[in-house]
Amino acid sequence: MPDIAFANGVFLPLAEATVSVEDRGFQFGDGVYELLRVYGRVPFCPLDHLARLERSARALDIALPFDTARWMSVITEAVHRSDYPEAKVYIQVTRGVAPRDHTYSATLVPTVIITVRALASPVESLYTDGTDVVTVPDLRWGRCDIKSVSLLANVLAKQQARNAGAFEALFVRDGFILEGATSNVMTVHGGSLVTPPEGPLLLSGVTRRLALQLAREAGISLAERPLPEKDLYAASEVFLTGTTIEILPVITINGRCIGGGFPGPITKELMARFRKLHA
Ligand code: PDD
Repeated sequence: MPDIAFANGVFLPLAEATVSVEDRGFQFGDGVYELLRVYGRVPFCPLDHLARLERSARALDIALPFDTARWMSVITEAVHRSDYPEAKVYIQVTRGVAPRDHTYSATLVPTVIITVRALASPVESLYTDGTDVVTVPDLRWGRCDIKSVSLLANVLAKQQARNAGAFEALFVRDGFILEGATSNVMTVHGGSLVTPPEGPLLLSGVTRRLALQLAREAGISLAERPLPEKDLYAASEVFLTGTTIEILPVITINGRCIGGGFPGPITKELMARFRKLHA
């Protein structure tokens, strides 16, 4: 079985899965999601993703219809049916189907969609040579900690990066770097790891948390503090974290070279430690 969907309570080929045009996910972007990765047919950190899904849904007053055991059994079955050793699993939960009206009723039944697709990792040269990023003004709303399916500002930012020949766009608000369109960001200053603190303006990344844990284990000093954009260019290293990219070195920002223009030692140390987590 190739790409799989779990939709409206049944498993079926992804190409056959549908949602109603009156689904509030389609009408309003009214829903939440998670992306988790499968290594060697085993979902990676599923409980962290499910905990964040729960937090996102609660923040939007959406009651998740499944408990953790049920999520795990559906995800496991979907992964098993697809049989991809390396895959990405999207979980999308919308507020449900109703005639279009901004206000909603508490009786709506949330729509649950789970998809499993083969994962194409970024090419290895991005890890050995590093990637290019650009900065963009942060046009998003004030609750970027909620993993909402409303991703318009992220879509436009990522496209802006692609049009500039870059891998990622970093959001800048009031002179401070927050995160990427699809990733968190970390820098190295004077041998210390620096990353913007969690809060309403960035997503609490599962990979971000793992990278910080690995840094602590490696004895690397770290600070979670606001990161002015102007400090970025003085960093000796910059890297991105995210479920599909893991830990990805950055070598230029807006065309300006970071460090020596190649992935630095702390980035490489964390990349190696991260890979061991799922080896
Ligand atoms: N997004 N910040 C944003 C805005 C993101 O969209 C993501 C991940 C992250 C990293 O979070 P994590 O380490 O938990 O994957 C940070 C995924 C890749 C997506 O939207 O497809």
